[in-house]
Amino acid sequence: METTEERIGDLRRRKAIAEAGGGAQRVDTQHAKGKLTARERLETLLDDDSFQELDSLVEHRCRDFGMDDNVIPGDGVVTGHGTIDGRPIYCFAQDFTVYGGSLGEMHGLKICKVLDMAMKTGAPVIGLNDSGGARIQEGVASLGSYAEIFFRNVRASGVIPQISIIMGPCAGGAVYSPAITDFVIMVNKTAHMFITGPEVIKTVTNEEVTFEELGGAGTHASMSGVTHFTANDDEEALEIARELVSHIPQNNLETTPNKSTRDSAERKCEKLQEIVPEDSQKPYDVIEVISEIIDDGAFLEVQGDFARNIVVGYGRLDGHTVGIIGNQPNFLAGCLDIDASVKAARFIRFCDAFNIPLLTLVDVPGFLPGANQEWGGIIRHGAKLLYAYSESTVPKMTVVMRKAYGGAYDVMCSKHIRGDYNIAWPTAQLAVMGADGAVQIIHRNRIKNSRNPEEERERLVEEYGELFANPYKAAALGYLDDVIEPRETREKLCKALKMLLEKQEDRPARKHGNIPL
Ligand code: HXC
Repeated sequence: METTEERIGDLRRRKAIAEAGGGAQRVDTQHAKGKLTARERLETLLDDDSFQELDSLVEHRCRDFGMDDNVIPGDGVVTGHGTIDGRPIYCFAQDFTVYGGSLGEMHGLKICKVLDMAMKTGAPVIGLNDSGGARIQEGVASLGSYAEIFFRNVRASGVIPQISIIMGPCAGGAVYSPAITDFVIMVNKTAHMFITGPEVIKTVTNEEVTFEELGGAGTHASMSGVTHFTANDDEEALEIARELVSHIPQNNLETTPNKSTRDSAERKCEKLQEIVPEDSQKPYDVIEVISEIIDDGAFLEVQGDFARNIVVGYGRLDGHTVGIIGNQPNFLAGCLDIDASVKAARFIRFCDAFNIPLLTLVDVPGFLPGANQEWGGIIRHGAKLLYAYSESTVPKMTVVMRKAYGGAYDVMCSKHIRGDYNIAWPTAQLAVMGADGAVQIIHRNRIKNSRNPEEERERLVEEYGELFANPYKAAALGYLDDVIEPRETREKLCKALKMLLEKQEDRPARKHGNIPL
């Protein structure tokens, strides 16, 4: 009979085997690729000494292809919980040194356990992906575990925040777990995501494309919009996740913890008047506007390289996190198009699900005209943005800085779709369209028949401008709660937010709405 001492020794040996993963040589290969190991990643992500591992002794049950002689406890994924800035987080990290991080039955069920525990305890989940995909030797058992994860990701959506960090390959159906989660962070060069790889594409469509072009971080940041953040290396990706977590609550029943600031809520934003040019045709960077308004200028932009005509991200007002949406006049004049609508709609829905108030900064000439936009479905995609704003019940504040034209005026969190605090600067123009376009349409005959058409046109444009290119018609109708000086913006928003934090608003009970997907 073994002594207790011997049994403890045996336990330690078993744990050491689990901890060694695929062995020193494979760890060296991982490092040579510029990648951290699964355990190093979790240590970097979480507060010091906070990680508590679960299931390190789980083993696969595969008996085919010689797998019974190749059993590594832990089964290629390190799972457990820890804290970030003292707040509990569940997490998993796939270990590429063990069977290429491939997902077999038990590997998948370990991830499921973490998702189940996160749901029971109301804590966010962060998944670190580095995997060759479905473990080929385990066949359909591996696919079964994948689907169990997908199902849980969907069930958890809108209940607990879910973040995926892609730090290696993520191919085939495996991409659908990150795709369902709320945020995707990809590491440049080492992360690749695609449904079918370059070789299959070559065979089927004869297209030649590299791994990087097809599914690298750059591609997914700027072209597909799959990733929300891009990092230069593993450390940066994990740091982004920590910062992101600071802006989001533990679950849908809580709010984000406040972060105290020395930036006074009464600070005057003197620079705003300079940043936004008087001439409504002139571009500027809306991120400068955001930085001037929020606490300490600290803005965490989300999807910064995708649909750059709209900016979304997080900042704080007097310590409270807000989700910010701003038209970006520096790109496509800040028009709304398909990608911008989808990007902002998804952002708004996350904020609404997790009790994060919304701040909308409006300077929008309208929807982008073009056959490609129409054929691509701008009608149904633009509707997503309208839908997302209308269904959201979190506090909603809107500042119209310059243009708010046409349907885009309605869509960008106007009073009518239940903005709670809608204000404008004196430079705002709330109208069906700009003066030039309007005069062309309503005074076409008058201009044509006048003795000096150009002079008449100019006079009519000025007349229209005086009548409509201002915020006062809207203010007179109560569509704006106030017209303020630009410098007062932060102060007014901080005061309004304080009042709105306890806001309650309901929508009729239903199974779910039918957002135009
Ligand atoms: C089992 C796998 C594996 C997999 C890699 N390995 N992928 N084992 N199942 N899916 C093993 C390798 O055999 C190797 O083991 C070790 O992991 C490291 O792999 P390498 O090929 O040496 O590494 P590297 O050169 O860096 O290439 C990485 C890779 C490549 C690009 C991921 O391994 C690869 O193409 N793997 C197959 C990818 C794939 O087709 N997966 C299925 C996708 S479909 P040894 O012992 O030799 O070191 C899918 C469907 C999901 O995932 C469906 C969900 C619904």
